[in-house]
Amino acid sequence: MSRLITTFTGLEFENPFILASAPPTESKRKILKAFEAGWGGIVTKTIGLHPVENVAGPKTIYQRTSETKPYVSRTKRPETVSHSSWNWELISDQPLDMWLPDLEEIKTTYPNRMVIASIMAGAGSEEEMDNWKKLARACVNVGCDAIELNMSCPHMDRKDMGANIANDEDIIKSVLLAVTSAVSVPIWVKLTPSTSKLVDAAGVAYASGAASISLCNTFPSLPLMDPETMKFEVEVDGLVTSGGLGGLAILHQALQRVSDISKAFPDQAISGIGGIRGFREAFNFVVHGAGNLQVCTAAMEEKGSGGIGIKLIQELKQDLNEYLERKGYSSIEQIRGVARERIVEHSQVRRKSASYNGGYALAS
Ligand SMILES: Cc1cc2nc3c(=O)[nH]c(=O)nc-3n(C[C@H](O)[C@H](O)[C@H](O)COP(=O)(O)O)c2cc1C
Repeated sequence: MSRLITTFTGLEFENPFILASAPPTESKRKILKAFEAGWGGIVTKTIGLHPVENVAGPKTIYQRTSETKPYVSRTKRPETVSHSSWNWELISDQPLDMWLPDLEEIKTTYPNRMVIASIMAGAGSEEEMDNWKKLARACVNVGCDAIELNMSCPHMDRKDMGANIANDEDIIKSVLLAVTSAVSVPIWVKLTPSTSKLVDAAGVAYASGAASISLCNTFPSLPLMDPETMKFEVEVDGLVTSGGLGGLAILHQALQRVSDISKAFPDQAISGIGGIRGFREAFNFVVHGAGNLQVCTAAMEEKGSGGIGIKLIQELKQDLNEYLERKGYSSIEQIRGVARERIVEHSQVRRKSASYNGGYALAS
């Protein structure tokens, strides 16, 4: 399947499908299993240096949809299909010192698969910039091929971390300056979709040395409340907080974000994430400009795979390969970004009359 080989940010992936930073990549055991199954790369569950303690209850729920009521719910019912994941999980609670030998062993066992370390620290002080550097250096020293900066975790109380910093161009710049001064591998920046300044944030990241933008992390969202019990579908002591929506429900919104960035920066790299379950979703990210594809919810949901998508990666590879072969393409590069010029201003789409100019008053 040589058509699947993809060069992205200077790294060669044997196929463009990688497991996103999340439970499928939270341990050595799962990552080794994922490589055995055929994933081209992985982004580790985000590694940090600050204290992490998750909620005293389920960290993730899977919401399913059906023809019959309730339409969307985590409640187990016959004949439902996947709608989304909702989670309020924090970053990895495995300390850096335990990650390092694991990462080294993973890289030694699978030297040709790409291991990207996701890292996160705070901002606003030299100490926090040093934390970014320390994390990046440590992971690169044990063989990681690239670093992904988590500027998008939607579950942080700390105002100097995760999605809370993705609106601050000065912080984006200073973190990139710190990390690029510490290591020389490609730096991917994972941004939150939950900002109206996404294109500006991406522009600053690229200008400050980011090799790629990874998009999207989950969308901030709330779980549903049951009208009978007055309970949220996930809660602890009756309380809930903003969590992240992933899976099919975010596909179209993720595509819009990727398209916005790809149109603004057509020559830059984008890693597409959000709602990929099969070839068609992956295809859509590529035509909008993504050069590789990250998957989380669909892998977690696959029964019997230990949450790493064993059947999923086989299908993704087979279906993409079959498509490229049938259409005579030698790689995804030949279809990457082909939709870009067809996404236009509203008024550029033909009306029945020729005079419409976008809602402005017509000159008299
Ligand atoms: C339970 C869970 C935990 C996650 N943890 C992280 C994380 O530690 N770091 C990160 O960058 N993204 C994290 N994510 C976000 C995913 O990497 C991904 O961006 C998101 O789920 C959208 O992809 P999907 O629609 O394929 O699920 C997490 C997602 C889920 C569902």
